Amino acid sequence: MENKPKIAIYPGSFDPLTNGHVDIIERALKLFDKVIVSVMYNPKKQSLFSVQERVDMIRESIGKKANLEVDSFDGLLVDYTRMKNAVAIIRGMRAISDFENEFQMALMNRRLNRDVQTIFLMTGLRWIFTSSSIIKEVATFGGDITGMVPQPIKLRMLEKFPPREVK
Ligand code: PNS
Repeated sequence: MENKPKIAIYPGSFDPLTNGHVDIIERALKLFDKVIVSVMYNPKKQSLFSVQERVDMIRESIGKKANLEVDSFDGLLVDYTRMKNAVAIIRGMRAISDFENEFQMALMNRRLNRDVQTIFLMTGLRWIFTSSSIIKEVATFGGDITGMVPQPIKLRMLEKFPPREVK
């Protein structure tokens, strides 16, 4: 058996980080020696926050942990996993609607790099309906996102979208 530390990458747009993501990070930390949360580019999505803002927001929300790194990468996920000597890619799975896209990505990543395994963690029941996009939509119209995102994220969202007075 190899004695190398088991490193996992948790990639995503994290635009912004939600409590659902935090739950996945905490659970992944129990399974691996080191978890690297990496903000990556998803060509299918237009982002609200810059990559640097998202990295800073994740750092503010999670705080410092010895076995956690927060990073970003502009390129193929499989190249990044090689660069970081990672053995696994972590993805959260919420509902059947996530499945098709995740299945496609996992199989493509496996085709491109057979040395890395995609591991799906079922999203905690409390966060099944939470997504960055729905949170952005609610916040855009001045809705309350308390309890869905960490406090530093809520504050950043409030800066972008001050609460509206509905008359
Ligand atoms: O949070 P998201 O938007 O669902 O994350 C998707 C992400 C960023 C992990 C995916 O788009 C990705 O891996 N981007 C990096 C480029 C890449 O490797 N694309 C091929 C994936 S099969």
